[in-house]
Amino acid sequence: MPLLNPRFLVISLIVLLSITVFREAEASYRVYKVKVVNEFPHDPQAYTQGLLYAENNTLFESTGLYGRSSVRKVALLDGKVERLHEMESSYFGEGLTLLGERLFQLTWLLDTGFIYDRYNFSKFKKFTHHMQDGWGLATDGKVLFGSDGTSTLYKIDPKTMKVIRKQVVKSQGHEVRYLNELEYVKAEVWANVYVTDCIARISPKDGTVIGWILLQSLREELISRGYKDFEVLNGIAWDRDGDRIFVTGKLWPKLFEIKLLPLTPNDPLAGEINNLCIPKTSFLLEI
Ligand SMILES: *[C@@H]1O[C@H](CO)[C@@H](O)[C@H](O)[C@H]1NC(C)=O
Ligand SMILES: *[C@@H]1O[C@H](CO)[C@@H](O)[C@H](O)[C@H]1NC(C)=O
Repeated sequence: MPLLNPRFLVISLIVLLSITVFREAEASYRVYKVKVVNEFPHDPQAYTQGLLYAENNTLFESTGLYGRSSVRKVALLDGKVERLHEMESSYFGEGLTLLGERLFQLTWLLDTGFIYDRYNFSKFKKFTHHMQDGWGLATDGKVLFGSDGTSTLYKIDPKTMKVIRKQVVKSQGHEVRYLNELEYVKAEVWANVYVTDCIARISPKDGTVIGWILLQSLREELISRGYKDFEVLNGIAWDRDGDRIFVTGKLWPKLFEIKLLPLTPNDPLAGEINNLCIPKTSFLLEI
């Protein structure tokens, strides 16, 4: 009866445990660096809080700061603002997404959002959402995905704005807080993580981070060119037809088109994900 032998049981337990530990040590996500394949001008006064690509080299962008918040239609190639809606100074613009002919926009510290006509920016209506705050928005063409600065990714019914599902976003068991601007990219939700230079690639099925994109090189590039007064990376846009990815940041003078480069397993950055991409302590509210 070897199975009932206590020594055998202990040994089996140890073997089982080490298999578990070994599995944990193996990253459950892939890590990417980026290569810049194009760069475009970006309004350095735009405190980017929402970004998306529509067809014809056109972007829609939502900007924040009181008195400077807006929704804008922007020409990708020259960065020109082709249509501008300035928000009342009591509103701080946040996440933006385009579903059908309508732009949905969140505002910071309020449960109020706005729906605009995508062609003339006329304000259709206000809505109330049920997240703790309004940070990021994206859509798969059917439902909305929302973030509120916590580790929760919300799935929202665009007709009622009711929360359909909540997922806690985790990277190998570590909760990922400060989820910010969102983009839906090929059945994944990509999220800027506030105050980091990282983008989390999240599985909307269970909230698991299945990839990390490291964009430290973009900040370094701007600094090396003498740019100073720009803030955090924020803003991801995906051109579905051309399969192009664009990123920018708050008050960034440039918008970059990037390609992902998988990190080689021996790259020292691969072991730094928790330090680089997962904010540990609470800090003050986003400004
Ligand atoms: C895209 O640009 C083409 C050529 O300028 C124009 O005919 C077309 O209507 C535009 N489409 C949209 C959706 O704006
Ligand atoms: C904006 O366009 C929509 C339809 O696309 C129309 O119903 C609405 O009247 C327009 N608003 C203004 C102010 O032109």
